Amino acid sequence: MHRSFVLFLGAALASLVVFATVSSRGADDKVISDFMKKYHKAPQGTDPTCKKVGAGTATDAELAELLKGYQDICAIDPPKGEKAAWVEKCQTLVKAVKAVQAKETGAADAYKKAVNCKSCHSVHKPD
Ligand code: HEC
Repeated sequence: MHRSFVLFLGAALASLVVFATVSSRGADDKVISDFMKKYHKAPQGTDPTCKKVGAGTATDAELAELLKGYQDICAIDPPKGEKAAWVEKCQTLVKAVKAVQAKETGAADAYKKAVNCKSCHSVHKPD
């Protein structure tokens, strides 16, 4: 009797953990998707923030918002691929935006290189 109760409790706890992991996974994915839609891909006819940064036309407010976005997605698990590789890519973007904010020479070009859609999607974006 006692033993089966412990087993029952164990099973209940295990399913709770699984449930919590699955639901937080979904929330994380949404953060990245929303970020992509907002900063990397604007509606047709408008330039996304990432394009403005590359062209050197992003405002200070846009840069600050973009930086925070990269820091946020850096802190969560990617939907696919190694976490370490993900963090490295996001950190490169964080540094690149900071360099643009500091108006360092060549910063916009370095950012354009770092924001390579395909090289990140091929590793971290689920099919
Ligand atoms: C540092 C990595 C990284 C870079 C760089 C990156 N993306 Fe993404 N992108 C992702 C990941 C990861 C997803 C998948 C999110 C998910 O499905 O949970 C994604 C998803 C998307 C989506 C789908 C959003 C949706 O769910 O509707 C679009 C659109 C997109 N990216 C556009 C771009 C564009 C355009 C660029 C280049 C200017 C770019 N991304 C650069 C990581 C990146």
